[in-house]
Amino acid sequence: MTHVLDGNAVSDRIRSNLQTAIDHLRDSGVTPGLTTVLMSEDDASRTYVSMKQQACEDIGIDGRTRRLDAEQPAEDLFDLVKELNARADVHGILVQMPVPDHVDKRRVFRSVDPMKDVDGFHPENVGRLVAGNARYKPCTPHGIQKLLESAGVDTAGKEAVVVGRSDIVGKPMANLLIQKAPGGNATTTLCHSQTENLTEKTRQADLVIAAAGYPELIDGSMLSEGTTVIDVGINHVDADNEKGYKLVGDVAYESAKQKADVITPVPGGVGPMTITMLLYNTVKAASLQTETPVDLPWVGLPSVGGARDADKAVFAGGDFGNTLSRMRSGKESFLLWFLAYPV
Ligand SMILES: NC(=O)c1ccc[n+]([C@@H]2O[C@H](COP(=O)([O-])OP(=O)(O)OC[C@H]3O[C@@H](n4cnc5c(N)ncnc54)[C@H](OP(=O)(O)O)[C@@H]3O)[C@@H](O)[C@H]2O)c1
Repeated sequence: MTHVLDGNAVSDRIRSNLQTAIDHLRDSGVTPGLTTVLMSEDDASRTYVSMKQQACEDIGIDGRTRRLDAEQPAEDLFDLVKELNARADVHGILVQMPVPDHVDKRRVFRSVDPMKDVDGFHPENVGRLVAGNARYKPCTPHGIQKLLESAGVDTAGKEAVVVGRSDIVGKPMANLLIQKAPGGNATTTLCHSQTENLTEKTRQADLVIAAAGYPELIDGSMLSEGTTVIDVGINHVDADNEKGYKLVGDVAYESAKQKADVITPVPGGVGPMTITMLLYNTVKAASLQTETPVDLPWVGLPSVGGARDADKAVFAGGDFGNTLSRMRSGKESFLLWFLAYPV
């Protein structure tokens, strides 16, 4: 029977463990702080920002939003980021994308202090990810790794196909899958709009991650029996209902489910994980900047004993690589954490 991965349930488990870490930080006099900068009138961006703010409030992170008019000069945005970089009570900074056309997106990524870059988009953090020494993994691919962990999907030695090469999803996802580390070790193919014969690629895959922003691009006929299918897409398509639209993924769910062993639905799959991993990165940022050790949640990797329950398996740096994974025997010391991952 196909295992339908419940992103809300996995997300709740991680948040509940993050709550413990946040309580510990607060006992040490640290309140994690995340500031989101919004420079857009776009409805979807406003909705995302208010969802992030609410998630922070729910869990005890000091979540704030700073708004700029979309017509303001780009320098106003960069001055604000500079101010936030200097503030000790702001541990994470997120500039909501998209920014207006007159603002250079890549300069925005470079302007955020890499220690506060909880999106993981600063070139230094991208470089660390590629080098296998990630500080902050980008939230959506990191959430997908956690979902796969939760289902006990071992990616080692598997054929993985990622469809989509964006900087926020496809590229970092492929980079995580190729790492010599838990949640990696996959033989990975990265596809895009110029890829010839996509079906040939997806049919050979044990794991398909669809992040193309193209409604129902992947259907059952493009998959082999027993594939794990992760659907990142969120697409609005016209529908004969009150709203006039419905949400569909990049995967034709019903037909793909006939072939898949494991599959994520839309909504309720990858979506809930993205904000949760933002909270995770913010807690990690607060811990690193204040040198206050915390236990960060992981969800369970077969390679480290098959634990699948976050409640049984909470360690500092649950995603910090093979070496530390094998050292786990309860709670790790913070010293080990810093020795392995100097920042
Ligand atoms: N669930 C979540 O939390 C979450 C988070 C982020 C994004 N999303 C959703 O995920 C989807 C992808 O987002 P994104 O920001 O990565 O999108 P994006 O920046 O638009 O990138 C889309 C990628 O897909 C490729 N592509 C488009 N059509 C294709 C086709 N027919 N065959 C093969 N490749 C194709 C593009 O190729 P080229 O590079 O050649 O143009 C591009 O690399 C969107 O639906 C977005 O809403 C969801």
